[in-house]
Amino acid sequence: MAHPNLLYPNLAIGENGHLLFDGRDTVELAETYGTPLILLSEDRVREHCRAYAEAIAAFLPAGSGALYASKALSFRQIYPIVASEGLGADVVSPGELATALSAGFPAERIFFHGNNKTDADLRFALERGVGTIVVDNLEELARLDELAGEAGRRQGILLRITPGIDPHTHAKISTGRVDSKFGSAIETGAADAIVAAALAAEHVSLLGFHCHIGSQIFDAAPFIDAAEIMLAFMARVRREHGFTARTLNLGGGFGVRYTEGDPEVDVAVNIRELGEAVTRACEREGLERPSILLEPGRSLVADAAITLYTVGSVKEIPGFRNYVSIDGGMTDNPRYTLYQAKYTMLLANRAAEPAEFPATIGGRCCESGDLLGEGVAIARPVRGDLLAVLTTGAYTYSMASNYNRVCRPPIVILRGGEDRLGVRRETFDDLMACDM
Ligand code: LLP
Repeated sequence: MAHPNLLYPNLAIGENGHLLFDGRDTVELAETYGTPLILLSEDRVREHCRAYAEAIAAFLPAGSGALYASKALSFRQIYPIVASEGLGADVVSPGELATALSAGFPAERIFFHGNNKTDADLRFALERGVGTIVVDNLEELARLDELAGEAGRRQGILLRITPGIDPHTHAKISTGRVDSKFGSAIETGAADAIVAAALAAEHVSLLGFHCHIGSQIFDAAPFIDAAEIMLAFMARVRREHGFTARTLNLGGGFGVRYTEGDPEVDVAVNIRELGEAVTRACEREGLERPSILLEPGRSLVADAAITLYTVGSVKEIPGFRNYVSIDGGMTDNPRYTLYQAKYTMLLANRAAEPAEFPATIGGRCCESGDLLGEGVAIARPVRGDLLAVLTTGAYTYSMASNYNRVCRPPIVILRGGEDRLGVRRETFDDLMACDM
């Protein structure tokens, strides 16, 4: 049945009017596991991983690959899924690193990011044999060199460089401009200084460079701009510092469809265009093509998950708006509160009904800003209906909190007609686990 809110092929409406996700009746799953509930399609995550892997193998230089930016969704079971698809992992904190390692993710395939790694973070990464540390700044480099020396290691590193690009996304999520807490800028000379220091350091081995220009980017153009700036920088580094970088990591950022108005990104087409641009730029600069790493987060997991909530009160305020309250909100998904991020929603138990009711979706927190959307078109709900919010796999569970001592929802993983718990629902004991 065609319905404008069915954004991806694994969404459908059953004959009983229930929303089907991966062919599974979402109402039944909500009855089994309770709400709020995050359903994650393992098959869809794997499909996305393969799309990247195949396009990278076809269009990028030898040795290129994808790393899962695990900040998008970090919990133990996600790591073996992406590992088995041949991806590496990007972690940004010792907590993500510990989670990846405890799930058996191979340490040598881990890239450790962060603009402020503490000494303890660096020691932990060194002890556990993390393959690559992405060094952000001079102080970190000096400290890492000392600690690697103490640990008797020569640590592989990339240097995070700020190429000075604004990919025209939401200001809060664009991190590649000169005015940034991340990396060392080319324009200011900081990049040259850190290259010289890295080449002089005894206990690190400089493998190449990293940049990240932003998130939710729908075409290859900003990545091509970044690649051209970085390759020109690499050519200059070769001339001026005598160092030829073998690796260029271009970070993450391909976008996903939150609403019908968002374009669909064809990963293969974009990676082909990027590959062609890299080849042209290398010819121009007289460089051998480096291996290219990409760090997709959102585009691997976002549209692989939906969140189900139970509707509580429905308040129609004449002349104003209609408030529909749900049993979750900013605690499991703070993205509307933080970024006014738009979502597509529908009633999972009455999915075929026309979406004619403009609703402001309110969470359960004592906070007026706790909303999941305003002016969202859904069928007119009543208490007990099930609200499905689509495209919630990225930056929702990973940004969840226990504000108001609300328990975080479980993640149920769907695969080949089976369902299993990826993360169980939090309990009140969990909430008090650290309280003395
Ligand atoms: N690599 C680096 C160094 C990054 O900083 C990021 C995201 C990624 C890769 C992955 O980017 P992706 O493929 O997911 O776009 N909380 C925000 C998004 C913050 C993104 C931060 N960095 C949101 O909810 O929209």
